Amino acid sequence: MKVVLEHLTKRFPNRNKKIHTEVVAVSDFNVEIPDGQLVGLLGPSGCGKSTALNLICGLETPTEGKIYFDADDVTELPPEKRGVGMVFQNYALYPHLTVRKNIMFPLQNFKGEDKLTKEQMNERVMEAAKLVQIEELMDRKPSEMSGGQQQRVAIARALVKMPRLLLLDEPLSNLDARLRLQTREEIRRIQKETHITTVFVTHDQEEAMSISDFIIVMKDGVLHQMGKPQDVYDRPANLFVAKFLGTPPINVFAGEVKKGDVYIGADCIYRGTKLEDREVWVGIRPEGFILKKDGALTCDLKAVEVMGRDTSIVCENEALTGQPTVRAIIPAETPLETKGGKVRFDIKPAKLYLFDKQTEEVLEGIR
Ligand SMILES: Nc1ncnc2c1ncn2[C@@H]1O[C@H](COP(=O)(O)OP(=O)(O)OP(=O)(O)O)[C@@H](O)[C@H]1O
Ligand SMILES: [Mg+2]
Repeated sequence: MKVVLEHLTKRFPNRNKKIHTEVVAVSDFNVEIPDGQLVGLLGPSGCGKSTALNLICGLETPTEGKIYFDADDVTELPPEKRGVGMVFQNYALYPHLTVRKNIMFPLQNFKGEDKLTKEQMNERVMEAAKLVQIEELMDRKPSEMSGGQQQRVAIARALVKMPRLLLLDEPLSNLDARLRLQTREEIRRIQKETHITTVFVTHDQEEAMSISDFIIVMKDGVLHQMGKPQDVYDRPANLFVAKFLGTPPINVFAGEVKKGDVYIGADCIYRGTKLEDREVWVGIRPEGFILKKDGALTCDLKAVEVMGRDTSIVCENEALTGQPTVRAIIPAETPLETKGGKVRFDIKPAKLYLFDKQTEEVLEGIR
C-alpha cells in the first residue's frame, strides 16, 4: 500500500502560555511513500519525526492537509480502523503479561466479522514470533528478557495484526551498538519478507542510509529532500542535507567564484564553472581529497590517524567553518608527502559542492 501525504501540517499551541506563537511540528508535507518500500525518516531531535508518524497512524489529527492510503482518504479515520502497526521508542510492553499474551493483545480487540477464534489467534501469534525469532521465549515476562528481545516482541506485536503499514519510531535507540546493528538487519529482513510498506524513524543517518530504500530528510518540520540514500548523499539539495549525511561530515569552507573559477582563500580548487562572481559555501566530502605534492588546496597538517583500511588526515584551513579541523580520508597505501607541516590536495569534482551563501541551496555548475 502506498501512503500519500498532501499539504500535511500539524501546529501545536505553545505550552508556555505567555508565548502565543505556535509550534509547527510538521509543515506542509507533500510526499508519496511507495508501496512495499522501507522509508527512513531522518532528522535532528525535535524536527517533527514522531509527530509525522502519529499523524499517519491517527494518534494525532492534522491541522491541515490530507492523508491517503492508496486511493482512500483516511484523514478522519480513527487509528484502530487504519490497519497500521506501530512500534514505539520505549517498546511499551505490558509488564504483567507473558510474551505470548503481549503479542496476542491487539488481536483480542478485533470485533464483528474480524473476530478470531482462539486457534486462529494462536496461529497468528506463532507466525509473528517466528518472524522475529522469539518462539522459545513465549512464556517469559518482559522483565526476564534483554532489551533486544523486548524490542522483537514489540515488533511481533505490531506485525500480528498483519498491518498494511508498519511505523517504527526509533526502535533501536535503547540497544547497544552490536545489538543495534543486528536488529536493524533483522528489521530489513522482515520488511523484505513481508513487503509491508514501512516508515522507520531515526536521527542516526548511518542507520537510515544502511537499511532504507528511500530516505526523507527533515528539519524544523520541513521536508528537505527525499530520495534513494546514495542519491541524496551524492546530490544533496542544500547545505543542511549535505552536512546531515556522512561520517566524518562534509568539510565546509567559505569560498568565492571568480571568473568562473572556485577559490578557497588564495587557492583555486576548481576551474570552469558557469557561475557569476559570488561568495559561496564550498563543501568537500572527506573522501574527495587527493593528496598531491603540488595539489591545489594547501592546509596545515595537524595529525595523521591510521584506521587500517584508510588514513584520516586532520588539518587546518582558515576558510573552514562549522568545525575545527578539515578531515580528509585517503587510502592507507597513499604515500604521505608533507613539507614543513603543510599538506596539499587536489579535489575530486564529484565530491565537491557549492552552496548559495544566503539560501544554502546547492548551486549547479560543477561536473
Ligand atoms: N503535544 C505537543 N504539544 C506541544 N508541542 C509538541 C507536542 N508534541 C510535540 N511537540 C513539539 O513539536 C516538535 C516536534 O516534536 P516531535 O516529537 O515530533 O520531534 P521528533 O523529531 O520526534 O524528536 P525526537 O528525535 O527528539 O524524538 C517539537 O518542537 C516538540 O516540542
Ligand atoms: Mg520522536
